[in-house]
Amino acid sequence: MMKLKLIASLVVVALLGACSEGAGGSAAAGGSAEVHPGEQTYTRFCFSCHAAGIAGAPRTGSVEQWAPRIAKGADALLRTTIDGIPPGMPARGLCNQCSDQELADAIDFMVSKSR
Ligand code: HEC
Repeated sequence: MMKLKLIASLVVVALLGACSEGAGGSAAAGGSAEVHPGEQTYTRFCFSCHAAGIAGAPRTGSVEQWAPRIAKGADALLRTTIDGIPPGMPARGLCNQCSDQELADAIDFMVSKSR
């Protein structure tokens, strides 16, 4: 009986410890680690080609490959993303259900990682 109680209180202590650790971690990360609004769309639809630079896609994170694209301006990039660039870049980056705003956010996410 005593042993059970001891184990139970140890579990409680362990849980409390884990809990406060988690809270501390997220508080420290707060603000700086906000999720970009385009990250989810990017991860689901654009990552497959743009992470590794498949078929000549400008690779996410490559300042060199993105600079000439960024220079065209955000509006131009949104337009080519909506229309696609045959043959490599499919219209809407294969996300037919994405709104123009979601595509713009996804582009902004890649651009923000690549300048
Ligand atoms: C099937 C592969 C593929 C997927 C999926 C894909 N892309 Fe691309 N993307 C490309 C390729 C290839 C190019 C380069 C086209 C070229 O310049 O010939 C490109 C170019 C671009 C460009 C540069 C356009 C310009 O005018 O220079 C943007 C912006 C872009 N993609 C955004 C996206 C977004 C946003 C998504 C996800 C919603 C996405 N792409 C998904 C292959 C892909």
